[in-house]
Amino acid sequence: MKSRRKVPARQTAGKRTPSRQVPGKSVKPRSAPRQAPERAELTDWDQAARWYDALVGQEGSDFQKDIIMPGVFRLLGLKKGDRVLDLACGQGVFSRFLSQKGLKVIGLDASEALIRHARSRSTDSTKYMCSDAGDREALAGEKFSGVACLMAVQNMENIQPVFENIARWLTPGGRFVLVTTHPCFRIPRQSHWGWDEDKKMEYRRMDLYSSETAIPIFTPPMRTEGPHTWTYHRPLASYFSALNKAGLAVVDLEEWTSNKSSQPGKRAKAENRARREFPVFLTLVATPLKEG
Ligand SMILES: C[S@@+](CC[C@H](N)C(=O)[O-])C[C@H]1O[C@@H](n2cnc3c(N)ncnc32)[C@H](O)[C@@H]1O
Repeated sequence: MKSRRKVPARQTAGKRTPSRQVPGKSVKPRSAPRQAPERAELTDWDQAARWYDALVGQEGSDFQKDIIMPGVFRLLGLKKGDRVLDLACGQGVFSRFLSQKGLKVIGLDASEALIRHARSRSTDSTKYMCSDAGDREALAGEKFSGVACLMAVQNMENIQPVFENIARWLTPGGRFVLVTTHPCFRIPRQSHWGWDEDKKMEYRRMDLYSSETAIPIFTPPMRTEGPHTWTYHRPLASYFSALNKAGLAVVDLEEWTSNKSSQPGKRAKAENRARREFPVFLTLVATPLKEG
């Protein structure tokens, strides 16, 4: 993996200026702040918290409810009473899901505003804490049978200390399950659908893959300037290498496609075929290489 500038732990979550180059003018926000944020502890997700909480709601978006949460729960392979960590839990949608399954859950997130939403939406049996996932002091000495990280690893600028913490937190044989937007087919602003008139086929166009890239995502997304979070695209090799360096071995990989379908029409069949061909989500399962 490429070397990165070291940043203080609290700033690795949602740092507002990317340490890597943002390629091309089109991905640079017109209002990208050049100065460090006034409050170093305020993450980009704090300003997005109200919007994100409304988007996810109490039980999750359709993708979360239908695909992501049941899929991760199955892959965690936990039984009632097991301790599980929901890493980068946001407003706690998966923490609540796991609590309802009878697990002992801690949700951790770097955004204080999202942790406030999580607490207000959950019962006292689900515990939450605000911390950077890569902070070595976070949950020091605590052990979990499972660690889940849903749709957040791509929002972390520095994954190495996060994976090292996960290796410390997991009990022997414990499982780490991460889900991210598929880095081979879903890169914001760098992947697109296209229509091949000759073949009458919908195709996927990728403008970038191998370069690690920071991409601003406006919140709400339809905007073209203003508040934004960061997505850090990495090729698959970067994830495998960082996991391996942290002492975690990938033991399973699943690729999940969209369950949506097009309204009837001339291109509906081709669009539905393309949806089934190109997965939206990549899921990795890793376990500690050595007994901790
Ligand atoms: C897209 S949200 C996903 C939240 C939740 N897992 C879900 O599925 O709804 C990304 C989350 O990652 C959190 N995050 C980003 N970097 C982090 C870090 N270094 N440590 C802890 N949380 C982080 C953000 O605060 C935000 O809540």
